[in-house]
Amino acid sequence: MEFKNSPPMPEGANPRIEVQEMQAYKAPLEGRRNSLRLDFNENTIGPSPRVVEALQKVPANHISIYPEYNGLREAVITNLHSKGISIPLNPMQIGLFNGVDAAINAIFHAYGDRGNQLMTTTPTFGYYTPCAHMQGMKVHAIPYEGLNFTFPIKKLTTHLLEQQPKLLVICNPNNPTGTRLQAQKILDFATMSPETLVVVDELYEAFTGDSVLPKADFDKTPNLVVLQSLSKTAGLAGLRIGFAIGNKWTIDTINRVTGPYDVNSFAVTAARAALQDQAYIDGYIKEVLRARKWIITQLTKSGLRHHVDGGNYLLIWPNGNSSQVEASLRLSGILVRDMGEKPLLKGALRVSIGTTDQMKQFWTVFSKIDLSQDD
Ligand SMILES: Cc1ncc(COP(=O)(O)O)c(C=O)c1O
Repeated sequence: MEFKNSPPMPEGANPRIEVQEMQAYKAPLEGRRNSLRLDFNENTIGPSPRVVEALQKVPANHISIYPEYNGLREAVITNLHSKGISIPLNPMQIGLFNGVDAAINAIFHAYGDRGNQLMTTTPTFGYYTPCAHMQGMKVHAIPYEGLNFTFPIKKLTTHLLEQQPKLLVICNPNNPTGTRLQAQKILDFATMSPETLVVVDELYEAFTGDSVLPKADFDKTPNLVVLQSLSKTAGLAGLRIGFAIGNKWTIDTINRVTGPYDVNSFAVTAARAALQDQAYIDGYIKEVLRARKWIITQLTKSGLRHHVDGGNYLLIWPNGNSSQVEASLRLSGILVRDMGEKPLLKGALRVSIGTTDQMKQFWTVFSKIDLSQDD
């Protein structure tokens, strides 16, 4: 259920003033199942068959027992090592969360005090700001630069040194602009502002690289936290499982503000199976990159303004009004996100990249709706 406007507050037990004043993160998540879903950057083909098999084998009595997490942290480390990330990690450096959303929420709870500053970029993922407001934090969002949404490195460095914010959250690659920042720059931020917790949201790094993990030394930079998830690559968005990786003291601190069983048993079973089938994830990523190449060719031929960089999504500025084009696509069973409300992205649609066949389906319908129109 989604309330368009919040219902009026009844007399009596009042929530905190920050909560009264904040806007919740809202996304159009209902009624999507029968459409081609290019709106949330999820995996578009489903998880590995091994995940489905593992879930089907869960005995009924496991449903009535609280979840057990043994082995999952180790599986995350084994998986990272299998991908060539050779830094030493022990299980206490891996935090398990009910999706990266829950990790973000916990980080703000653990670190964000009233009046503290969140420094981030704009436009970026929409959940950081409500989390900051929930804590009564101030938000300082530095805009991406130019038509290619270049990372505002100089400005951010200056402001970071001057203001030493409590939290710096960088989405790398950035959702929705795809902007990529070299890992070294992130490490530099963590070194130059040791009082700041530097959070790198790497939800999409698997598609185009740039993870900070291969270079991270969490003893030297205990103020660095890396977020990764199985939602977008492995197809587990519905089960909710995400990881925070960092110094063991920092991860322990963030975990203090979560419930003891926030990650459910099905997510644990599915995550173990998914992490053991990296070949499936690699195959999906390869297909997305092939589809990306295909759609870029069509967009270039069409002459439409578009922007593609990191991640499994791209931006298109249709000839028509973006919210009308989004609505027409929806009527034809294709979901994309209108970015009209986001700073710097007026008139743009964000389109997730699925398989080549799915992008062909999108392009056929999109061309009929938009490419016959005049400017
Ligand atoms: C940048 C970014 N971070 C975090 C999330 C949430 O991820 P999860 O599904 O692991 O909660 C999303 C989901 O869209 C995202 O785009």
